[in-house]
Amino acid sequence: METIRRMESKVRSYSRSFPVVFKRAKDAFLFDSKGTRYIDFFAGAGTLNYGHNNEMMKEKIIDYLKNDGIIHGLDMATVAKTDLLNKLESIIFKPRNLDYKVQFTGPTGTNAVEAALKLARMIKKRSNIISFTNGYHGLTMGSMSVTANAYYRDKAFIDRSDVSFLPYDGYLGKEVNTALYMRRFLEDNSSGVDIPSAIILETVQGEGGIHVASDKWLREIEAMCHEFDILLIIDDIQVGNGRTGYFFSFEKAGIKPDIVTLSKSFGGYGLPLSVVLFKRDLDIWKPGQHTGTFRGNNLAFVSATAALDYWKDDSFSKEIFRKGEIIEARLIMLKEKYPELKAEVRGRGFIFGLAVSPAQRASKIAQECFKNKLILELAGATNNVIKFLAPLTISDDILSEGLSILEKSISNVLKESK
Ligand SMILES: Cc1ncc(COP(=O)(O)O)c(C=O)c1O
Repeated sequence: METIRRMESKVRSYSRSFPVVFKRAKDAFLFDSKGTRYIDFFAGAGTLNYGHNNEMMKEKIIDYLKNDGIIHGLDMATVAKTDLLNKLESIIFKPRNLDYKVQFTGPTGTNAVEAALKLARMIKKRSNIISFTNGYHGLTMGSMSVTANAYYRDKAFIDRSDVSFLPYDGYLGKEVNTALYMRRFLEDNSSGVDIPSAIILETVQGEGGIHVASDKWLREIEAMCHEFDILLIIDDIQVGNGRTGYFFSFEKAGIKPDIVTLSKSFGGYGLPLSVVLFKRDLDIWKPGQHTGTFRGNNLAFVSATAALDYWKDDSFSKEIFRKGEIIEARLIMLKEKYPELKAEVRGRGFIFGLAVSPAQRASKIAQECFKNKLILELAGATNNVIKFLAPLTISDDILSEGLSILEKSISNVLKESK
């Protein structure tokens, strides 16, 4: 750690929450340089849905390297890219009756968000975008402007015009339908909110604290988009790729967004790969109009293609729901057993949050978990939510071991505070 402290910028963050030097990783485990084993309930913030060094993908990657497959090719046509596109079409799009074009952007999620916002503005020739309270979409200038949390935006002095924030589902309490609130803003040209080119949202807000939008709310938002000629962008970077039990998080609501951003686990193996998907008639790009050197990472095409095998039938999906129920039941049990936490359990599929009060208690619990060799992250505006993002492929035994560590850690923290 001494080298890291001396050389790496103060901007580093996870090496502060988990102050050991990691060396190896397999499935749902990380190992530090001394060989100590940690259970990973963080999974690279949703990038390792298929676990660390997934064996099936590793073999494909090694084969590809051994055969001197193309590694970098800008956005040239390659066999690896063609294979991915064919499989995406046959395994993901066609069975879901989706007809999307695919844009490969720069490698990280924020690049996909930037491209999506730019495309929407170009299509509708309007500058405004509607985003939501607690939304998180990345930290480059465009994506940061649609990210809500002041911690990221306050000192950046970015342009905050051209974005209107409205209340997400549940933000004003369970009784208030914020879709109706939004409708009023759109109907009234004196509301101060210009009709936007697009509405961007996460169906489950990950970084914002595991706020789950209801299917009904999502359908109302989609209907309003049609009515007011607005494009709907679903940012599925964190909760797509199976995190909610479906490949796309919006499937359950039965909506068909105009534009979708995917990244994180899309590359399958933890290799960077981001895409924007959009309805065919929205493809108004001119060649190279949104270009970049690292668009389409061929090694990630190989692992992404292999990852799609998990989606050939619904068995993986069923497994995700089954394991999600295990987590949910355990969290509800903890909430009841430890009323001092004033806990709330939020989530669906295989993404859950345990909101606790006061907020500092969440960080104490996360630190205690780390001491007990369990890695998990906090979310929410005040970091009051303990977030569960274990790999979707985690075994029942390790899931249960991790949840027992959580319980022990909660109990230790509560004992200390007495
Ligand atoms: C929903 C969502 N959008 C965008 C991003 C930004 O992705 P990246 O950190 O790869 O730029 C994130 C990252 O956590 C995210 O959760």
